[in-house]
Amino acid sequence: MGQFGTEFCDQFSVARFENDTWSAAALQPLKPLQIHPAAHVFHYASSCFEGFKAYRWEDGGARIYRLSDHVARMQKSAASLRLPIPDAKMLAAMVVELVAAHVDDIPEPPGSLYLRPTLIGTLENIGAAAAPSSEATLFVLASPVGDYFASGAPTLKLLVEDQRARSTEQLGSTKTGGNYAAALGPTLQAKEQYGVDQVLFCPNGDVQETGAANFLLISDNEVITKPLDSTFLHGMTRDSILKLAGDLGYEVTERNFTVTELLELVKTYEAALSGTAACLSSVGTLVYRGEEIKVGDGGAGPNVEKLRKALQDVQYGLAPDTYGWLTEIA
Ligand SMILES: Cc1ncc(COP(=O)(O)O)c(C=O)c1O
Repeated sequence: MGQFGTEFCDQFSVARFENDTWSAAALQPLKPLQIHPAAHVFHYASSCFEGFKAYRWEDGGARIYRLSDHVARMQKSAASLRLPIPDAKMLAAMVVELVAAHVDDIPEPPGSLYLRPTLIGTLENIGAAAAPSSEATLFVLASPVGDYFASGAPTLKLLVEDQRARSTEQLGSTKTGGNYAAALGPTLQAKEQYGVDQVLFCPNGDVQETGAANFLLISDNEVITKPLDSTFLHGMTRDSILKLAGDLGYEVTERNFTVTELLELVKTYEAALSGTAACLSSVGTLVYRGEEIKVGDGGAGPNVEKLRKALQDVQYGLAPDTYGWLTEIA
């Protein structure tokens, strides 16, 4: 399998919004889209997307993880960008139809089928900087992927950035391309300068998230993470881990904490990134103001491994789906 996100199923699902209505979605051969150069998305970044996975189980069927929650997050992103909001049933049906047609393309666990609904504003008007796109195209791509961070992979190294933000207060919880564009420069700079994997954005000392994952601190009996607010993306993996951690007897503490506290906490807590691609991955090293700080002994944390396994067991059908997170594809 190629690099994450570079291989695709040979079909995708497409729907159009025009004249205040959505067209019926259709599964079609994967091909380039024809889009007018004046389309709103090219000029004013009216786009949002989702990312989640379908797993193939030993029974030969597929299960989509937290489909309705990802659809709801997409609707929230669309609303915040004033894009036409996809109908929840329509978008879920597009995903289900696509997965059902490609169950045989899903790699065995720990591989999966990564799903990428994307919504773009296609209004042909380069004078619409302060106007919403009243036309849009919605499509869903499917990409067979392997294990992004294989178990036993080296732990992650993060630069602690205590000045710059990843996003803005109004778009932090919107899954829109501009946020990734904003994080790219600082991330590349940090990789070059410090050899880190990611930047942990902590504007004015407030520990938020990295470019594409949420951040958690975990001890033998507690999980600490930032409470939901508009400044960062509300990860489904974060939410899943918090629920499973509670079931396993951990105290779940959603509270704000500063970089100063973080540096103190990593003396006794494990640190991890959570996200669809990374699942739950141990952070071994922080770099702050040019100094390297080890999290524990710098290795993978046993509590991170335990919680990651608890989540993967649900995803792979090895533990009961007590929260109804899985959508079965016959
Ligand atoms: C900025 C950002 N934060 C957090 C996450 C984790 O979200 P989720 O667990 O829903 O994949 C992602 C990935 O989607 C992300 O891009």
